Amino acid sequence: MTHKAPIRTAIVTGASAGIGRELVRQLASHPKMAEIQVIATARRADRLDSLAAEFPAGRVLPYVADITDPAQRQALMSWARERFETLDLIVNNAGAGTYAEFEKTPAEAVRNLIALDVEAVIDLTARAIDWMKPAGHGQIVQVSSILGEVGLPYSAVYVAAKHAVNGLVKSIRYELAGSGVSVWAACPAQTVSEFRAVAGSGRTNDVGRGAEPTEKVVASIVREILRGGRRALYYPTWQPWAISHVAWAAPWAWDRIMKRYRKTAAEEDLGIQETSSR
Ligand SMILES: NC(=O)c1ccc[n+]([C@@H]2O[C@H](COP(=O)([O-])OP(=O)(O)OC[C@H]3O[C@@H](n4cnc5c(N)ncnc54)[C@H](OP(=O)(O)O)[C@@H]3O)[C@@H](O)[C@H]2O)c1
Repeated sequence: MTHKAPIRTAIVTGASAGIGRELVRQLASHPKMAEIQVIATARRADRLDSLAAEFPAGRVLPYVADITDPAQRQALMSWARERFETLDLIVNNAGAGTYAEFEKTPAEAVRNLIALDVEAVIDLTARAIDWMKPAGHGQIVQVSSILGEVGLPYSAVYVAAKHAVNGLVKSIRYELAGSGVSVWAACPAQTVSEFRAVAGSGRTNDVGRGAEPTEKVVASIVREILRGGRRALYYPTWQPWAISHVAWAAPWAWDRIMKRYRKTAAEEDLGIQETSSR
């Protein structure tokens, strides 16, 4: 499943911050994508406008939408179809997490997370396939997470959502075989962005120990976009690769790491008082 045609049109969700904003920057300035036009979408108009202003007029097209709303997703794709004859690339990057003991996660937070991290991804993927398949080409990239493969205490709903995204990708890849449309998931580990600050819950460190530079993670994702997405899950750096392999090859070692992490995250970082050794 490789994407050989030049990438001239793209949509990137979650383009106002973190990984998405850097993705738009690297796509819009890449020498191998000199003709690209990128629709950059998120809710914060001022952020999108200032991003677009970094590039020649028409290169980055800001589009304000709350993609948890099905009507706004429909409007986004209609707007894109008015501007682009074909869609070469969509990056479903917008996402958010929550930090809480699972059973205490508010129902509304669960609904919002699933609406953004799962429903919006499924719907935009289906709409992109509808558009790309008749054209015989296109690439769909989900910005998932290494947490689509392993568990993490106090992030259970987010972890479940990213597992759903990885399951989606693994399945529709087979449906799309031979269609010219590729789909894959980028699975970064902790990356510098606004993610932890948005997820909130009073974390003492808004970026996270060992978070990798946004530019490095995104440059790796862009390289894989240019290669066309060779496998279902792509690890942009060694960190997620190592996590995946340790968790698979030495599950007892991974359990020990997670037990230690649970204590640190709960007591030092999230202020959760551990009452038992559940
Ligand atoms: N940072 C990490 O450590 C890390 C690691 C692995 C995977 N990821 C994944 O990477 C992706 C990007 O996250 P990030 O780390 O770059 O976080 P971020 O800095 O918080 O950016 C999140 C983006 O999503 C947008 N967004 C949030 N809710 C939205 C909504 N309802 N409608 C439209 N857009 C919305 C935000 O824009 P507005 O607020 O302007 O709408 C923002 O542009 C996510 O899918 C995340 O799960 C992150």
